[in-house]
Amino acid sequence: MLWPKQVKIVEVGPRDGLQAERGAMLSVAARVKLIDLLSESGLQSLEAGSFVSSKSIPAMANSEDVFDKIQKKPGVDYAFLVPNFKGFEIAQHHGIKSISVFTAASEAFCQRNTKCSIQESFERFSEFIPLAKAQGMRVRGYVSCIFRCPYEGYIQPQKVVQVAETLLDMGCDEIAFGDTIGVGTPQDVIALLERATFPKEKMAMHFHDTYGMAIANITVSLEKGIHIFDASLSGLGGCPYAEGASGNVATEDVIYLLNGLGVDHGVNMNKLMEASAYIDGLLSRKSGSKVALALQGGCV
Ligand code: HMG
Ligand code: MG
Repeated sequence: MLWPKQVKIVEVGPRDGLQAERGAMLSVAARVKLIDLLSESGLQSLEAGSFVSSKSIPAMANSEDVFDKIQKKPGVDYAFLVPNFKGFEIAQHHGIKSISVFTAASEAFCQRNTKCSIQESFERFSEFIPLAKAQGMRVRGYVSCIFRCPYEGYIQPQKVVQVAETLLDMGCDEIAFGDTIGVGTPQDVIALLERATFPKEKMAMHFHDTYGMAIANITVSLEKGIHIFDASLSGLGGCPYAEGASGNVATEDVIYLLNGLGVDHGVNMNKLMEASAYIDGLLSRKSGSKVALALQGGCV
C-alpha cells in the first residue's frame, strides 16, 4: 500500500475541543498553557481559538488575549476561526497570520451555526478574504456536514464539492472537509473523495468520532492520497450546534496509527500526552483517546 510519506496534523483541540465546554469556563492563562504545551510537542499547526459572538460560544471569548500571550514558536501556524468582517478585523489588529472561515454543505446547519444562508456566508467572506490574502494571511475554509446534517439528513457529495469549489475560487488556501457529527464510514469517504478531485495539498479531512469510525476514515483517506488531518488532543470537543456529536478524532490515536504505518508526522507522543493530561485534569474528564488510556495504563 502506498501511503503519503509525511502528513500534517492540524491540532484543533484549543478551538473545536474547548468550544463545546459548558462546564467551568477555562481562563485565558489555562488556554495559553495548553497551546504552549501543544506547540512543544512538535505540532506545526494549531487552531488556537475563534473570533465569534461570545453569546453564541462563550468558551471562546477573549481568544485575542490568548493569541497575545502564547509563545509564538517559529514555524508554528496559529489559526483562528473567523465568521465575518468583525472577526477578520480582530485578527488583523492582533497581527494574526492565519484565519479559518466556515460554512456548510447544509443550509439548515449554516443557519443554526452562523445565522445566515450558505450564499450569505460566501458574501460575508468576500468582504475580507481578498484583504486577508493581500496582507499575506493564510485562509482555510471549512465545509461542515460533508456526509449528514443533524437537521437535513443525507448530504449529496456534489453539494460538498460545489461549496469547496466556491471557497477555493474565493482564495482559500486549504479546504477542511468536516464530518461534523462523526457519522461517516469509509464508503462515504471514498464516495466523496472520488468526486472532490482538488489538489491534495489543498484538502484536509476533519473527522469527528461519534460512531468510532474516524480512524478507519483516516486510513482510507490516506489511501486516497490525503495528507492533512485535523485532530483534537484527548478527543476533546464537539459542536454546540450538533447535539450529541462527540469530539474530533483523538490526536494520540492518529499518531499511533501513523506510527504503525510508518508515516512521518513530527509529533512527540510523550509531550502530547503531557498536554492531554493537563487539559483532562483541568476539565476533570477521562481521556477520550484509547491510545492515551492504554499508555497511561502501562499496556504495551
Ligand atoms: P449574529 O447574531 O447574526 O451577529 O450572529 P451580529 O452581527 O448581529 O452580532 C451579534 C453579536 O455578536 C454582537 O454583539 C456582535 O458584536 C457580536 P452585541 O452587540 O450583541 O454585544 N459579534 C462578534 N463578536 C466577536 N467576534 C465576531 C463577532 N461577530 C458578531 N466575529 C455570528 C452571527 C456568525 C456572529 C454568530 O452566529 C456566531 O458567532 N456564530 C459562531 C458559531 C460557531 O463558532 N460555531 C462553532 C464553530 S463551527 C464548527 O465547530 C464546525 C467545524 O469544526 C467543522 C466541522 O466540524 O464541521 C469548523
Ligand atoms: Mg469540528
